[in-house]
Amino acid sequence: MWWWVGSRRAQLAALGLCAGAALLLLHAPRAPRPAPAPAPAPAARNLTSTTAAPAPAPADNDTSPAPPPPPPPPPPRRDPRIIVTGNVYEAGHSRPRAERCPALGARLRLLVLVTSAPDHAAAREAVRLTWGHAAARRDVGFAFVLGTPDEAKAEAIRAEDELYGDIIIGNSRDSYSNLTLKTLSMLEWVDTYCPKVPRLLKTDDDMFINIPRLLKFIDARKNASRTIWGRVIKRSTPRRSTKSKYYVSPLQYPPKVFPDFATGPAYLMTTDVVGELIKAAGQEPYLRLEDVFVTGVLASKLKIKRQHAAEFYNKKVSYHPCTVQKGIAIHMVRFHEQFDLWRKLLDGKTKCAGT
Ligand SMILES: *[C@@H]1O[C@H](CO)[C@@H](O)[C@H](O)[C@H]1NC(C)=O
Ligand SMILES: *[C@@H]1O[C@H](CO)[C@@H](O)[C@H](O)[C@H]1NC(C)=O
Ligand SMILES: *[C@@H]1O[C@H](CO)[C@@H](O)[C@H](O)[C@H]1NC(C)=O
Ligand SMILES: *[C@@H]1O[C@H](CO)[C@@H](O)[C@H](O)[C@H]1NC(C)=O
Repeated sequence: MWWWVGSRRAQLAALGLCAGAALLLLHAPRAPRPAPAPAPAPAARNLTSTTAAPAPAPADNDTSPAPPPPPPPPPPRRDPRIIVTGNVYEAGHSRPRAERCPALGARLRLLVLVTSAPDHAAAREAVRLTWGHAAARRDVGFAFVLGTPDEAKAEAIRAEDELYGDIIIGNSRDSYSNLTLKTLSMLEWVDTYCPKVPRLLKTDDDMFINIPRLLKFIDARKNASRTIWGRVIKRSTPRRSTKSKYYVSPLQYPPKVFPDFATGPAYLMTTDVVGELIKAAGQEPYLRLEDVFVTGVLASKLKIKRQHAAEFYNKKVSYHPCTVQKGIAIHMVRFHEQFDLWRKLLDGKTKCAGT
């Protein structure tokens, strides 16, 4: 399956976040802005704010009594047991690494953000030594995104980041059932520190990404707007058995079918939708299937196009050099396989039809 497979206990833990904790989270302090930021960045979005448009001013010569202001829209009437994403998401980044996006992204063609976990140091190392090389380019931004690690792992992460300076740490706690929060943290980072980059690739640390091919894909679609590309799944249905690894509570998601969504291992988006996505996320019941939530539920609400692209394999494929050279994203790549794929991408001798 394409999304995270978790234990039932973890699911329940995720769904069992108590309202008290949620209230605390909403008022969490924002991380201070780092000194080397090249230009003042806009403030991070407040997921809970719902600013109403100001009422039009009455005409100067209007002598009739002012009409009563329209009543404010009632807050959506929701079952209080529903967990709303804005109430569990902890905004801000303790380690923002704003310098990973110079000039707010104005000179970048692409930003690649790789979700990773505190324990995955080896996977990050393999990515840095292979396709993550793209970080050396001046037209590509690159960083890993983690949630807040446990105390026990914090020091190792700090040391790793000291060495490479490529780890963004969001304020929500890092855990499997918080994957959706990690993606929101990524989007918030783009909105805050990199709002001018035209394209964002969201991917994971067990992926092989063919960056040259991805840049060609992007160049062929320069005029696109409000679009997400990837491996698009249509008419997938939520699992309702609590025994299922993919259980989705009818309370959190009542419809019988998911909106079309792009699978989580790798998807590309035009960044004109980033701000809308994080704003819409705050109001929405929490789903821990991050791809369904972000590229399905939110994207369909916001009428963002989702386009299937066969180059996003997003699964394990044969490691033939031509398959590697023609594709953009290969899933379930282990440490040693990253080097094998990297060599095959750059072998410089295989002739592949149609490349
Ligand atoms: C977000 O906005 C709401 C309403 O505008 C406000 O009450 C709340 O304090 C804000 N929260 C943060 C973290 O800024
Ligand atoms: C009053 O305002 C209306 C519309 O703004 C305008 O058409 C009209 O000429 C104004 N009347 C006077 C007396 O200024
Ligand atoms: C998910 O993140 C929130 C916000 O940091 C935290 O309160 C919660 O404990 C996390 N959930 C898990 C299962 O770690
Ligand atoms: C993008 O739009 C411009 C102006 O409309 C057009 O000249 C150009 O060919 C388009 N490029 C692509 C890649 O579609």
